[in-house]
Amino acid sequence: MDLVTAAALPEVTATVWSNVFMISHLRPGETLLAHGGSSGIGTMAIQLAKAVGARVAVTAGGPEKLAACRELGADILIDYREQDFVEEVRRATDGAGADVILDILGAKYLARNLETLAVNGRLAIIGLQGGVKAELNLATLLSKSAAVTATGLRGRSLAQKSAIIAAVREHVWPLIGGGRVRPIVHSTVPMREAPEAHRVLESSTHVGKILLTT
Ligand SMILES: NC(=O)c1ccc[n+]([C@@H]2O[C@H](COP(=O)([O-])OP(=O)(O)OC[C@H]3O[C@@H](n4cnc5c(N)ncnc54)[C@H](OP(=O)(O)O)[C@@H]3O)[C@@H](O)[C@H]2O)c1
Repeated sequence: MDLVTAAALPEVTATVWSNVFMISHLRPGETLLAHGGSSGIGTMAIQLAKAVGARVAVTAGGPEKLAACRELGADILIDYREQDFVEEVRRATDGAGADVILDILGAKYLARNLETLAVNGRLAIIGLQGGVKAELNLATLLSKSAAVTATGLRGRSLAQKSAIIAAVREHVWPLIGGGRVRPIVHSTVPMREAPEAHRVLESSTHVGKILLTT
């Protein structure tokens, strides 16, 4: 692996491992729903969840993004522009729902994420692209014995960050070393062309990460 690709690894692996496995305890045979499956975070979530033997549902905007998710191993493909993810996940799981949801939309998806959760489900919010304030229906949460968490990497203590990195080294590095998991890099762009990289991100035509090089 070249140095630039290696540089993309710590943030995505630490975010996905800490939320999906250390906090939400995704287990083999369970179903993960990852919103934004073709994002840098989503592409890593698909691969790691498949590597531990989970079933993976993703949302993405359009057939090309979903095809990229399928190539990485996603089992249930949902075009959020055309389909209702609550219905699609229910249908694909015989009504059971998703055991873990990795969410990047925040407020916009909170109610529908709760509806999609299985009994004993865990919703891990890591992004707020769809806003910060929403109503949480505690009756739904209680009836499902479900849990909602929201975390960011930056706000963690040094001890927590160290524990995450140690876990990533133990569990994820061997998968990367063995070639089962890889960071998905859309393109590398020199720092002086950062505005162009931002334009690509805003148009959302990328799959995986865009790396700025110095
Ligand atoms: N909390 C943490 O520690 C932490 C750490 C890293 C990243 N994050 C967050 O994780 C998210 C992903 O980061 P990234 O760098 O991988 O971002 P990115 O590549 O820019 O991806 C953004 C994604 O959002 C998807 N999206 C937009 N609207 C959507 C909708 N209505 N339903 C489902 N998906 C939708 C896009 O899908 P389409 O292109 O298909 O429309 C795209 O894949 C960001 O919100 C970021 O802030 C959090």
